[in-house]
Amino acid sequence: MPKSILELQKKYLDALGQLNYPEQPNNLYEPVKYLLELGGKRIRPVLVLAGADMFDGDLDRAMNMSHAVEFFHNFSLMHDDIMDDADLRRGSQTVHTKYDVNTAILSGDVMLIYAYQFIEQYEPEVLSQLFTLFNKTSVQICEGQQLDVDFETREEVAIDDYLKMITYKTAVLLGASLQFGGIVSGASKKDQEHLYNFGKNIGIAFQVQDDILDVFAESQASGKKKAGDILQKKKTYLYLKSLEILSESQSERLRYLFSDQKEVEGQSLIDETLALFKDCHVKVYAQELKESYQQLGLSHLQMIARPEEHKEILLNFAENLLNRES
Ligand code: IPE
Ligand code: IPE
Ligand code: MG
Ligand code: MG
Ligand code: MG
Repeated sequence: MPKSILELQKKYLDALGQLNYPEQPNNLYEPVKYLLELGGKRIRPVLVLAGADMFDGDLDRAMNMSHAVEFFHNFSLMHDDIMDDADLRRGSQTVHTKYDVNTAILSGDVMLIYAYQFIEQYEPEVLSQLFTLFNKTSVQICEGQQLDVDFETREEVAIDDYLKMITYKTAVLLGASLQFGGIVSGASKKDQEHLYNFGKNIGIAFQVQDDILDVFAESQASGKKKAGDILQKKKTYLYLKSLEILSESQSERLRYLFSDQKEVEGQSLIDETLALFKDCHVKVYAQELKESYQQLGLSHLQMIARPEEHKEILLNFAENLLNRES
């Protein structure tokens, strides 16, 4: 019978807890352990297990892929926090703040190599499929990250550019995680594609939500700095859509605030931007966008050739993930 998400989470956390890291050099491995043990939602490794479970795969066999995606994800966060100049992650200091930037670069690098070593464990035929998808996805994530950084200083960003950027930096890894589960448990190519597209579209919705919560979350349970995206002048959907729907003078002001001006900074920048976002009710538009991708994702789940009870876990998973308040 299909397992519940809670069971899959527990199974992953048990496996993670049993991993051993080398003792030396301590300055390389301590930050790895530090970040991995700070927690996080463990979305991606659980998606691998859920993808495998849907096709009655052996979860212990899927576990190496779960580690691979969680290590890759944490590597990308360690570097992302340098790039975003973020000092808070999961409620604690980021690695480059607690240690230093060089440490965060190299400890991040070693986590990426560990991800490859987890994948190496599979037999050749499966291995080649896993590698192909993993490498394609990793390149897209780098491209998405670069677009995200480029957009900070690019004046004209279209909403389609934003959608491509978040698809690459975030969504493809959710899709790939599910597909990895499908690959190790022998799902058909068609079902693998639906798994991937379910994850990708849920992933787009997830990143739109991350952007909404960055600005509007009531609590700071995300453990990230509030309105960090405004401080970094990120061209999120909130910003881009506001430009479309605000009055001409207000959108001109918003453009000015996000230009390289130095006059309005810090809390004043946050307050003024937030007032403009609220004035045009952009949160409602962002929620609609999120829901449209959520629905698209669910339509792919429906098309997977498995009985309904095998789909329920992922249905609930998407529901819980996309209804968080923080
Ligand atoms: C953070 O990912 C980066 C984004 C793609 C939004 P998560 O929100 O999954 O981070 P953790 O692992 O739960 O901390
Ligand atoms: C992170 O996106 C994406 C990757 C690490 C590839 P964000 O920069 O939006 O993630 P948070 O908000 O810092 O978690
Ligand atoms: Mg970033
Ligand atoms: Mg960031
Ligand atoms: Mg974010």
